[in-house]
Amino acid sequence: MQGSAVAHPNVALVKYWGKRKAAGNLPAAGSLSLTLGRLSTRTTVRLDSAAGEDRLNLNGRENRRDLGRVRDCLAPLRERAGNADAAAVESINDFPTGAGLASSASGMAALALSAAAALGVDHDRELVARAAMAGSGSAPRSLFGGVVALSINEAGEWRCRSLLGPDEWPLKVAVAVTDGGAKALDSRSAMERTRRSSPFYSAWLRGQDADLDDACRAVEQRDFEQLSELSERNCLKMHAAAMSARPPALYFNGATVECIHRIRALARAGSPVFFTVDAGPQVKAVCLPEALDEVTGALRQTPGVLRVLTAELGAGARLA
Ligand code: PMV
Repeated sequence: MQGSAVAHPNVALVKYWGKRKAAGNLPAAGSLSLTLGRLSTRTTVRLDSAAGEDRLNLNGRENRRDLGRVRDCLAPLRERAGNADAAAVESINDFPTGAGLASSASGMAALALSAAAALGVDHDRELVARAAMAGSGSAPRSLFGGVVALSINEAGEWRCRSLLGPDEWPLKVAVAVTDGGAKALDSRSAMERTRRSSPFYSAWLRGQDADLDDACRAVEQRDFEQLSELSERNCLKMHAAAMSARPPALYFNGATVECIHRIRALARAGSPVFFTVDAGPQVKAVCLPEALDEVTGALRQTPGVLRVLTAELGAGARLA
């Protein structure tokens, strides 16, 4: 009664920011992301009928704060398997946790798959995706590799799929880490606050379907320029909505802004690169392979950057 899985984080180019009202953890709109190889979460779930309660050990430490999410993720799997045994979850990230590097996405994807294996229901990939979604709205995307779209219709039916496999477009991602600590504001409460109080939230949502359609088209045509323009705009729209919540959700630090300017300067000078920022101060530069050295060099020299990680597109979550 044990399962192990590996999943990679993903970086959103069309962001998910805001849930549907009264619909569990379902996002209000679709999103598009790149699954990052190299950075990974490895999770093992052991079922123990004698243990009294679920336990989570994250990066070698007992963690009670995220147990609620873990149980949300396990619930649909337990129900399907008809097995309510307590679970001991051990999860390790080889990159900064809770700092805007989508550790919740890779964490919940790895958890859903490993728990499904422990419970003997991992053959049902739709169920695994539903469990990942219950843990984190961006997690189903980490079940898939390459460039991934999560689309949702009016009725709230959703589907996640890979648009291009990891080898079908050689995109590279440089991550400028500008703060090594955990973020002060978790995305779940920040997006809820944005939905409730930002004057820009409805405008943000209205644009999402068109942005997702345009991004899918740009990806299918491998149109880097089109994807750059759209991703940067979508990122800044999301942060504008978050920043205008009450109280504001401001994830940028000084180095975040410096990195954005550096990347824009490189792009103006002709390099195929664009930026995006998720719910944390780290900056992700997405580029074509020929620009990677120049981009990582420029980010390393930017004041406030602690280190630069690089990744290429990676595979979806898998049993380990
Ligand atoms: O799935 P969560 O709760 O970690 O929220 C993800 C929010 C963003 O990273 C900012 C956007 C996204 O689509 O991943």
